[in-house]
Amino acid sequence: MADRYLSFTGTAPGRFLTRRLGLPQPVPLRRWSAEQQSFTGELLHLTAGKSDLDLAPVLARTGLSSGGDSGDRPAAVVLDATSVRDIDDLAEVHAALHPAVRSVAASGRVVVLGAPLDPADHQQASVQQALEGFTRSLGKEIGRGRTVNLVRVVDAGAAESTLRFLLSPKSAYVSGQVIEVGDTDRASVPEDWERPLAGRTALVTGAARGIGEAVAETLARDGARVVCLDVPAAGGDLSQVAGRLKGEALPLDITAEDAGARMAAALPDGLDVLVHNAGITRDRRLANMPAERWSSVIEVNLASVLRTTDALLSDGLLRAGGRIVATASIAGIAGNAGQTNYAASKAGIVGLVRSLAPRALPEYGVTVNAVAPGFIETKMTAAVPLFIREAGRRMNSLGQGGLPVDVAETTAWLASSGSGAVNGQVVRVCGQSLLGV
Ligand SMILES: NC(=O)c1ccc[n+]([C@@H]2O[C@H](COP(=O)([O-])OP(=O)(O)OC[C@H]3O[C@@H](n4cnc5c(N)ncnc54)[C@H](O)[C@@H]3O)[C@@H](O)[C@H]2O)c1
Repeated sequence: MADRYLSFTGTAPGRFLTRRLGLPQPVPLRRWSAEQQSFTGELLHLTAGKSDLDLAPVLARTGLSSGGDSGDRPAAVVLDATSVRDIDDLAEVHAALHPAVRSVAASGRVVVLGAPLDPADHQQASVQQALEGFTRSLGKEIGRGRTVNLVRVVDAGAAESTLRFLLSPKSAYVSGQVIEVGDTDRASVPEDWERPLAGRTALVTGAARGIGEAVAETLARDGARVVCLDVPAAGGDLSQVAGRLKGEALPLDITAEDAGARMAAALPDGLDVLVHNAGITRDRRLANMPAERWSSVIEVNLASVLRTTDALLSDGLLRAGGRIVATASIAGIAGNAGQTNYAASKAGIVGLVRSLAPRALPEYGVTVNAVAPGFIETKMTAAVPLFIREAGRRMNSLGQGGLPVDVAETTAWLASSGSGAVNGQVVRVCGQSLLGV
């Protein structure tokens, strides 16, 4: 369903009228394309205080030029605030970004780097936590398709895949997020950053259409052999997607009792990336919701995710260095009227990630993360009544809905062989929706 309002605000009369009326002014976002894979502009590297983080070599590899004096607007600003420990240091965050923020190019990036909160130092914990409020507020006011995110790092090298993602057009719809990156021990460096999944096998559920189709495409672009799973009734679309990507189609209902065993049978050489994307909605307010509507959503969105994950892990099918990416939703974080079943299932995904991530890494060498999409333009959201659909599209900092590819790019970053230090994260792909935190 085309976003006509976004097209209208892209015209001169549209811009004039919406400005006069004080209406949202979304701008078309710059996304990744084979022709324009990275931003071409300058990167401004700022520091609050005196930092020990060895950031410059990592930033130099992002493709953005730094330190120049081209006079162009910077495409990105990175503020290293990892050494901010007290109130005086916090003033340096303001001092560094205040003069720079207005000049950031449209669709540009602001990335603030923070440190993990020190439980033994309440001064440090307080001002480092302050960075979250700062980042989220700047995300809400910066406008013009620009995004602002906070990354808590201990080691610049371990954060390379995350910085490459956030400083690229791939993260167009990710804003207002706080991402924690672990240490070097967990990080690995892909041989080829453009194909970080080369030689790896991925399984994507719900791959016949929508977000799952985009995830399968994006993982294939990054070098993975993709096994595309969907219900047998979607077999025609599924074969087309799998054929286009030179992958394999696996027609299977994930709620089947033997789904785990059948996935294993289709993966005789093991698996590196498991993407739980299949999901359904059966909306009704609780007072009007029959048990069947409740249980079908819990069964598809949560129970089968738990069952098949356990089956694949206990079979030892997910290889060391494997990645699990599950699909939550902002409804599971903020709640949504008419979606008690759906929100329960998606909050359950967040619980799964929080519990399994710290154990899966040491036990199986596997990272476990979730993407939490906001309003994404798919068949699922095209069916939403017009007024609610318009509200969903506009009620975020970017003033528009996301595209399936935005969720797919985020999934691909979490699935990347370079993202071994990103574990236990729930990353919202919601344009910084006003719902939830
Ligand atoms: N579209 C959004 O705005 C949005 C927002 C938040 C979360 N999500 C989540 O993202 C995921 C994908 O959403 P979408 O919008 O692409 O939905 P979609 O309905 O377009 O696609 C979902 C796919 O999952 C498949 N599927 C459903 N039940 C299945 C089963 N039992 N076994 C195997 N496959 C099954 C469907 O056949 C379909 O191809 C879902 O988990 C959804 O809850 C979507």
